[in-house]
Amino acid sequence: MTDERIDRFDEAAQYIKSRINEVPEIAITLGSGLGKLADRIENPIIIPYKEIPHFKTSTATGHKGNLIVGKLGSKMIMAMQGRFHYYEGYTMQEVTFPVRVMARLGVKTLFVSNAAGGMNPDFKVGDLMIITDHINFMPNPLIGKNIEEMGPRFPDMTTMYSSRIRRMAHEVADTMKVGLREGVYVAGTGPSYETRAEYKMFRMMGADAVGMSTVPEVIVARHSGLEIFGMSVITNCAKDLGEDCLNDGNDVVVAADKAADTMTELFTRIVNKL
Ligand code: HPA
Repeated sequence: MTDERIDRFDEAAQYIKSRINEVPEIAITLGSGLGKLADRIENPIIIPYKEIPHFKTSTATGHKGNLIVGKLGSKMIMAMQGRFHYYEGYTMQEVTFPVRVMARLGVKTLFVSNAAGGMNPDFKVGDLMIITDHINFMPNPLIGKNIEEMGPRFPDMTTMYSSRIRRMAHEVADTMKVGLREGVYVAGTGPSYETRAEYKMFRMMGADAVGMSTVPEVIVARHSGLEIFGMSVITNCAKDLGEDCLNDGNDVVVAADKAADTMTELFTRIVNKL
């Protein structure tokens, strides 16, 4: 008897297949304020999440709710313009559902992006950080009966972020004369931003940037056997906050939007080198 969860993934996958001509091997999840990359996709087929069986709709600021399939440069890709967050009230299964569908469709590589607070004292607003590793402060999306057809009960997480793609990212950034940071991303549930003490704690734990997404999706992507590349845009200073310095969700989206063109160009070039 097949797992009912697989039936749901396959219903969504079949629907997506019925709307597109070619299934891409590369998927890109676009974070807060980073949806612009979608404008670079040629001959896009735009599928609103609400039309896809079992998909939720994204409610977060700076997130549209479309799956877009088309060419980025010369490569076919599938972009998620907007993701689902745990803080929106979705379950971890709902948050990570699209990643399972990607795996069932035959996607091999997942690029993820997000907006994050920079705790590393060297980081500035607007910096781009390659995610080298993460710390999970959210519930693990693999809790529950394991889906054996998709991956092992106890998947390895020590080689999460592809060193092959990270190397390519550096090569591409060098040719573009763009500086790239590298660092550890820590994910909390949100939706409240961290207190000063929490920023300090995360920094002491070895994290460079903090956000409210990405980790659930990459855990499930890793479990499903996908190769992963992640990038954070540093949108606010999560350190040395002055007395009158407040975190604000709109400022985060504005800062992400400013960095979106560079990130889009980087992703386009990396994808075309794969
Ligand atoms: N904390 C958590 N999530 C975030 C932040 C932050 O400072 N900035 C952008 N997303």
